[in-house]
Amino acid sequence: MTEIPEHLLKRSQQARSAAGGEPGAAVAPVTPSAAAATGEATVEPAEPADKAVRTEAAPIGPPPVQPDSPVVVAYKGRRKIPVWAMLTLSILPVWAFMYVRALQPPIVEASGPLGEGAKVFNQCSSCHGSSGEGGVGYAFKDGSVLVTFPHIEDQLRWVKFGSDAYIAAGIEIAGDPNRPGGAHVAGTTGVMPAAGLGLGLTDAEILAVVCHERYDLGGAAPAGVEYVKWCSEDSEIFLALEAGTTTFANVHVQFEGVMQIGEAPRAGTSANG
Ligand code: HEC
Repeated sequence: MTEIPEHLLKRSQQARSAAGGEPGAAVAPVTPSAAAATGEATVEPAEPADKAVRTEAAPIGPPPVQPDSPVVVAYKGRRKIPVWAMLTLSILPVWAFMYVRALQPPIVEASGPLGEGAKVFNQCSSCHGSSGEGGVGYAFKDGSVLVTFPHIEDQLRWVKFGSDAYIAAGIEIAGDPNRPGGAHVAGTTGVMPAAGLGLGLTDAEILAVVCHERYDLGGAAPAGVEYVKWCSEDSEIFLALEAGTTTFANVHVQFEGVMQIGEAPRAGTSANG
């Protein structure tokens, strides 16, 4: 038989007497601590013990805190990509799309008659100077071309048909017959090639280059009725010429306030004529 150790027996007796409230001389003073030692004491130590186990187990669960390896230190200490950079990168595809589109040949309508005319003028600059300062042909600078042709229609006709056609038709003056400083008489300085036939320009290209001569080189203010009607970016006549829905032959019929350009040389007009 196993003997119950003396001290355990004693403790259980004390516990019983404490629970039953049995007065006992030797027991009484012990009671409070006995209560602690039995009822709660059995529980209380259990808790810390439990905690102890947990706290001991804790280090086992998550990996022990060890000093990071140099690689990890470098990784943690790396420069993070700032938010703005992320945003910038995120619009990169949009930029790429626009960049590629920008490489496509420009749409003529977007640049308008003046943008187009500056390019066409490469075919004229050998005789008139790259900035319209003149050469074999007349200068366009300082409003000279505007004095010769108060009306843009007369200039369009002259450029389209060229000097030989005027001479052949017996028409000496393509521009203003009362030109201040003297009328320009066809055949005086040389041959002006027909931009229409000789150079193979379309009516839209001729309008574009004439706009360039009047507004970029001649110095006319890019405003007013003529500019809006013929040379502005949203000139309806320019767009119609480009689209082929009108030509120099019939633009005066289709658009109001337009003088006849026609299909052959005609005498030029004065500012008020
Ligand atoms: C081969 C040389 C040559 C080329 C190229 C040339 N021109 Fe001329 N241009 C002349 C000559 C020469 C005259 C004067 C003709 C005359 O005296 O009959 C002239 C006259 C003119 C005039 C009249 C100016 C004035 O004040 O009387 C205009 C406008 C004009 N050219 C526009 C153009 C345009 C636009 C182009 C290009 C599409 C062009 N020219 C290309 C030689 C040229």
